[in-house]
Amino acid sequence: MERRKVGILGATGMVGQRFIQLLANHPWFEIAWLAASDRSAGKTYAEACRWKLDTPLPAKIAAMTLMPNVPEGVPAEQLPKIIFAALDAGVAHELEPKFAAAGCAVISNSSAFRMTRDVPLVVPEVNADHLEMLERQSWRAESGGYIVTNPNCSAIGLVLALKPLEERFGIESLFVSTMQAISGAGYPGVASLDILGNVIPFIKNEEEKLEEEVAKLLGAVRGDHVELLDMKLSAHCNRVAVEDGHTECVSIKFRKPATYEQILAAWAEFAPLRGIHEGLELPSAPFQPVEFDDAVDRPQPRLDRMRGAGMAATVGRLRPCTLLDWKFVVLSHNTIRGAAGAAVLNAEILAMLGKLDAPKPLSAHAGLVTA
Ligand SMILES: NC(=O)c1ccc[n+]([C@@H]2O[C@H](COP(=O)([O-])OP(=O)(O)OC[C@H]3O[C@@H](n4cnc5c(N)ncnc54)[C@H](OP(=O)(O)O)[C@@H]3O)[C@@H](O)[C@H]2O)c1
Repeated sequence: MERRKVGILGATGMVGQRFIQLLANHPWFEIAWLAASDRSAGKTYAEACRWKLDTPLPAKIAAMTLMPNVPEGVPAEQLPKIIFAALDAGVAHELEPKFAAAGCAVISNSSAFRMTRDVPLVVPEVNADHLEMLERQSWRAESGGYIVTNPNCSAIGLVLALKPLEERFGIESLFVSTMQAISGAGYPGVASLDILGNVIPFIKNEEEKLEEEVAKLLGAVRGDHVELLDMKLSAHCNRVAVEDGHTECVSIKFRKPATYEQILAAWAEFAPLRGIHEGLELPSAPFQPVEFDDAVDRPQPRLDRMRGAGMAATVGRLRPCTLLDWKFVVLSHNTIRGAAGAAVLNAEILAMLGKLDAPKPLSAHAGLVTA
């Protein structure tokens, strides 16, 4: 099968580098176009990027020239129709719509449009049905382009653990306290003198994002919008001196009673992509999206973040909670499952659903309306 050409916006950052690592040998996609800021345009990737990953920078990528960050002026045949975007929210707000208007499927990591009414916020194992919302975007009808987003890095691990529990027991309320790795702040991120030997109990806008995104991910499509899940969620977000891997301590109250064995069964049997797409496996989908470890001191970021090639969430320490019903710990890799890997998996399911091809005609479509 000929691989589809893709571009990466924000290719030199922490998430951009993960995109390069994950896409370098991807069976369906081929990196054909790279862009970062104006500071980097015109340089080779090797000149512009401080490569921070523990696999070598592929020689072909190192030699590629970074392009200007706008679609205007790029000959149509040179602009890939699939753009992975790893930009700060402010920049994404300005640039992503330009690429969607130019006919690109923009698969975004930033928060800029996650809560926008007709923009799908998707984790394929959790709410692939929300992807239908993209057909309502005005760009889709006009140029074929659209924006699809993946959630904040701590929302992804959490929502993987929550989805099978919500399906079986219903979630009434939830308390979560995060310990988030420094790579989540991008590069160069948090100053070493601020984070070494320290915990910073504040990450700007993170608690708000976690609370609203989980409610949208677990919500239901109702006509032209997603109805947020009716539950109470309170989040505390902390930055800790860990390189990669976000750990989250969760207390949860269910609508129906749940036993220890029933909760373990819900996680063990949660494999929605395996069943639906039998025979057409998505290359980045983990075989077991939620892995339970019964050791008393797991999960731990250094030991568990690479489970499922960095795409699985690990849960552990399930025990009764004296305030709510149950409590547990969930861990996931923030730049793989929480960012670039999540976007690549979104692209794979979009390919499988035929949504990386020309749009189907729409009888009616809504414009982009901010919720
Ligand atoms: N790190 C994570 O764990 C994580 C997880 C989930 C989501 N995210 C989200 O992903 C996005 C990227 O995060 P990151 O951690 O990769 O950030 P980062 O390391 O700071 O990288 C930012 C990237 O954006 C580029 N850029 C900056 N200004 C630009 C402009 N005006 N036009 C085009 N490109 C521009 C930078 O290029 P130069 O090198 O040229 O400056 C760099 O490639 C953010 O929205 C973040 O919230 C991050």
